[in-house]
Amino acid sequence: MDTIRLDKYLASQLQISRTDAKKMLRRGEVTVRGKEKITPETQIDPEQDAVFAAGKAIGYRAHYYIVLHKPAGVVSATKDAEKTVLDLLPPSLRRTGLFPAGRLDKDTTGLMLITDDGDFAHRMLSPARHVEKAYEVTLERNVTEAEQKCILEGMRLGEDQLKPAGLRFLREENGLPVYEIVLTEGRYHQIKRMFGAQKNPVCALKRIRLGGLALDESLAPGESRMLTEAEVGLILEKRDCQKK
Ligand code: URA
Repeated sequence: MDTIRLDKYLASQLQISRTDAKKMLRRGEVTVRGKEKITPETQIDPEQDAVFAAGKAIGYRAHYYIVLHKPAGVVSATKDAEKTVLDLLPPSLRRTGLFPAGRLDKDTTGLMLITDDGDFAHRMLSPARHVEKAYEVTLERNVTEAEQKCILEGMRLGEDQLKPAGLRFLREENGLPVYEIVLTEGRYHQIKRMFGAQKNPVCALKRIRLGGLALDESLAPGESRMLTEAEVGLILEKRDCQKK
């Protein structure tokens, strides 16, 4: 594995600035097993060298997985004339190579994964993996039984044959029905187009789950945090609740 400067390593693992990492080193709070003299420039092999900060071993993260509670009004892109989801990350979570894994429309809110792991994003988004994406959708009116059947069985959308989706009524909010819809594919404006085809416009859309990972409701819109390894594992977890 490639080596990395110790101050950079500490900054990335502890999500602190390089300046703070250097201060920790100056205060003697960091040790590296087998290395007597360490400086910010000391090269670390994350797979070989055991690094301890304040007495605790710190592990290497090859990739970053961040959950953002996406608010309305920002675009799912790395660069844009408009404000992007990456612009919302606090400085401690920013690093090169991050991108939003999958797109939510500008007015869609909810769970957005931001990562620098292209393979993981590919696996998550591949229709062959059947990773579920669950949304709360507020509609203009109730879905009829015939319309629901059509969605559950996999509806036709123009030229496209959609995969079966889950759909169940959740509640009424401000006089409008709110449903949960569960997809295993992610076509362009899919949910809006599905209900648009049934002449039932979408009034609001919020993603609430990716695979087995639910949106952390303690994150206010616009807030983000690193995912734990266990949470990352939940995203690709196989579930069996397609049809509800
Ligand atoms: N379907 C849509 O129509 N929009 C989204 O943002 C996500 C799914």
